[in-house]
Amino acid sequence: MESKRLARAAAAMVVILLGLLTLNDVADGTSDVCKTVQSYGYQCSDNEVTTQDGYVLGLQRIASNTTSEKKQPPVLLQHGLLVDGMIWVLSKQGLALALSDAGFEAWIVHSRGTKSSRRHTSLNADTNQSYWAWTWVEFAEFDIPATVDFIYNTTGQRVHLVGHSLGALTILASLSQGKLVDKTGAVGLLAPVAYMRHVTSPLLLYGANFYADKLLVSLGGAELLPHSGAVDFVLKTVCSFGLNCSDLMSILTGNNCCLDSAEMKNFLTYEPQSTSKRAVMHVAQMVRSGTIAKHDYGSASTNNQMYGQSTPPVYDLSSVPVDVPLFISRGEADSLTDVQDFNSLVSSLGNHQQSKLTVHSIPEYAHADFVMGSNAGQLLHPPLIAFLSNSTN
Ligand SMILES: *[C@@H]1O[C@H](CO)[C@@H](O)[C@H](O)[C@H]1NC(C)=O
Ligand SMILES: *[C@@H]1O[C@H](CO)[C@@H](O)[C@H](O)[C@H]1NC(C)=O
Ligand SMILES: *[C@@H]1O[C@H](CO)[C@@H](O)[C@H](O)[C@H]1NC(C)=O
Ligand SMILES: *[C@@H]1O[C@H](CO)[C@@H](O)[C@H](O)[C@H]1NC(C)=O
Repeated sequence: MESKRLARAAAAMVVILLGLLTLNDVADGTSDVCKTVQSYGYQCSDNEVTTQDGYVLGLQRIASNTTSEKKQPPVLLQHGLLVDGMIWVLSKQGLALALSDAGFEAWIVHSRGTKSSRRHTSLNADTNQSYWAWTWVEFAEFDIPATVDFIYNTTGQRVHLVGHSLGALTILASLSQGKLVDKTGAVGLLAPVAYMRHVTSPLLLYGANFYADKLLVSLGGAELLPHSGAVDFVLKTVCSFGLNCSDLMSILTGNNCCLDSAEMKNFLTYEPQSTSKRAVMHVAQMVRSGTIAKHDYGSASTNNQMYGQSTPPVYDLSSVPVDVPLFISRGEADSLTDVQDFNSLVSSLGNHQQSKLTVHSIPEYAHADFVMGSNAGQLLHPPLIAFLSNSTN
């Protein structure tokens, strides 16, 4: 009996100590991104941005690794869903450091709901469900504009934007609504997720077709916490319909050719990250509908209340200013960016000036290779960096 009590007390001590360590981690004020980047020998500083709707976002600035007198244009890196900005620095070969070496300042932001952006001026993410009432639409309307404003104000220079996955769509959505335009330089879209009618990702297809998003929402709570019983349960359910779920990364993103094992280990240390259940439901709606529209509240009357029309408004990507320099890159093994959907995206840009549009593809890449591919320094960074350099005044 005594030894059991001792064991329990010891376990409690460990829990408390771990808790203190975690608190310290936050209290010392240095983000995971800056700690990591500094360990590679680069300079990094932490900033925060408050959006118009009260979300407080972590934002890091990585100084240029050059001493030249020339301007060091800022590049904002926008990650996709279910991850945070750590994906840009999982190894020293990541895009953020490549940009720094090439004379740019890299800025890394973290979307609302992720580890370093879980704060709000009045809502508590842990106790108040309304903290989680958003989808990528709010990233486009609030997070990106506030971040670009902040960088533009701080540096006095137009901001180049690079988005991966759904981060690419949020940048386009923002630009299509006339936001950012006078503060944006060039735009790089990597493995853009936009139209999703032809998605071949088995996990996403099964999830959307079997309404796994509705099952998730029905389990209660507004936060999608990746390592939780609810997510495990929904995954098990989806996988029980005949999906081989032994390699989640592949059945979600495609057969990535070039994931670095050390980087993959880091990935599992920092990712996946929380998002809202509504954000996941919105993506599932896009797979089912094939359109790029706002979140569907599921009833004509609620949509009417929210939007003044019975169906969610559709984004018009032809409103993206036709003279913004765009670099769009797709991997031919990417199961989230099918070639037909990619072509729909390019044609939806309408009359984009041909001289301002670079369409690029990498035959062997799938979705995650764009941020974690060990050979991105050969296949992706040189053309992207050349494009950004050429677009800098
Ligand atoms: C900065 O760039 C130089 C080459 O221009 C390189 O030798 C050096 O290793 C880089 N610094 C870091 C911290 O990687
Ligand atoms: C959550 O926040 C909303 C909006 O500020 C407020 O109306 C509500 O009372 C809060 N709920 C809780 C449980 O704190
Ligand atoms: C940027 O500067 C403008 C003009 O001074 C100001 O209105 C705006 O609030 C600033 N934005 C940020 C994010 O600092
Ligand atoms: C599931 O996929 C893995 C490879 O990802 C493979 O090794 C395994 O044999 C598959 N299992 C079944 C039952 O097909």
